[in-house]
Amino acid sequence: MSRLRWMGEFIAGAVACAAVIVAVRPLAHASPDATWLTQRVALGKQLFNDPSLSADGTVRCASCHIPEKAYTDGRAVAIGVYGHAGTRNTPSLLNIATASESAFFWDGRRTALEHAVLDPLTNPVEMGLHDQSELLQRITQNNAYRVAFSQAFPNDRGSLTSAEVGAALAAYIRSLAPSQSAFDHYLHGDRTALNPRAQLGLALFQGKAGCAECHRLDDSPPTLTDHGYHRTGVGLDGIMANLPVLTEGVIARSLQGAAIGDGVATHADEAQLGRFNVTQDPADIGLFRTPSLRGVAHTAPYMHDGSVSTLEDAIDREVYYRSLQTGRPLNLSVEERLDLAEFLRSL
Ligand code: HEC
Ligand code: HEC
Repeated sequence: MSRLRWMGEFIAGAVACAAVIVAVRPLAHASPDATWLTQRVALGKQLFNDPSLSADGTVRCASCHIPEKAYTDGRAVAIGVYGHAGTRNTPSLLNIATASESAFFWDGRRTALEHAVLDPLTNPVEMGLHDQSELLQRITQNNAYRVAFSQAFPNDRGSLTSAEVGAALAAYIRSLAPSQSAFDHYLHGDRTALNPRAQLGLALFQGKAGCAECHRLDDSPPTLTDHGYHRTGVGLDGIMANLPVLTEGVIARSLQGAAIGDGVATHADEAQLGRFNVTQDPADIGLFRTPSLRGVAHTAPYMHDGSVSTLEDAIDREVYYRSLQTGRPLNLSVEERLDLAEFLRSL
């Protein structure tokens, strides 16, 4: 084909495309992307609330991520299918979008939300399905889902994939945004949004108490996390004597190709090794992801194992342990601890 003819065809094609775009444009109310996103969010919400996706037909995502409790469950550790207890406290899902999280679970074992949302479905003590093919089978048995998936993923002509399920659940979770907190109003210039005690708490949080070193305030809106991992002391005392056996257990399971999340949820002592479960680096023993503290007044009990029942106790624990870590004793009076608590309630 001559260069000239090729150019001619290219231009003719471009003109035809433009004509189609002009013809279609005035009719379209929303861009196709926006429509698919809306459909994916709606589908994700349906999946999130569907107990038929669990082994015993009673557990749905919302059983543990309860909207009225900032998407936590109020328990120390989660209870899943057949009443099985896990090993970790259910985190809020409200801050994932606000904090631009790129690591998930207390040990950061997943780096894509689309993958993280699929794990609970096959976790033996959460929703307990055998594998992802059982998941896909259950979904395709439902006519309404088949229609909803084909609308939400119009370009995928083939059969349903777990990637689509992950995309729908992730779209729903990203759509969950916390409402503006008193602290947000304060930052937007309403100086009355924080009472005097909370304002003293804010000053301590950023200043003497050093909390903002990890629960950071410098982004807009503040994420209250540094996206990092830190040793917390919580739960570590109980396993110190047994470290060699526990670390070998983790390594052996990993060599067998077992999913990290399944091991963590069913081996309480190994779960206390924290980030080590992901990296198998001894330096990571007992490290956990810094949780965002947004909405923290609604997410009791606290810490990765839910072992701290109240916000006041969590503050005491943090003040004590952070002093130990830095070697600088942090002396906060009873009044100052109340100030910190009042500030945390404004988040
Ligand atoms: C039995 C209770 C339970 C059920 C059911 C459950 N989760 Fe969770 N979820 C948890 C717990 C506990 C964790 C923390 C686990 C860990 O860190 O090891 C968690 C963590 C998460 C995280 C990571 C959050 C973060 O910031 O690290 C996401 C995302 C999530 N769940 C989504 C879902 C979705 C989607 C479903 C349904 C498909 C679901 N969960 C079902 C208890 C549950
Ligand atoms: C070195 C980093 C670091 C500093 C400094 C720090 N935190 Fe934390 N904070 C963490 C980590 C990591 C966790 C999770 C610990 C765990 O689950 O074992 C946490 C957990 C918490 C929790 C429980 C949150 C939840 O959802 O369970 C509260 C409340 C808290 N911190 C408040 C504070 C306060 C108040 C200060 C200042 C006195 C502070 N933190 C200083 C890293 C830090």
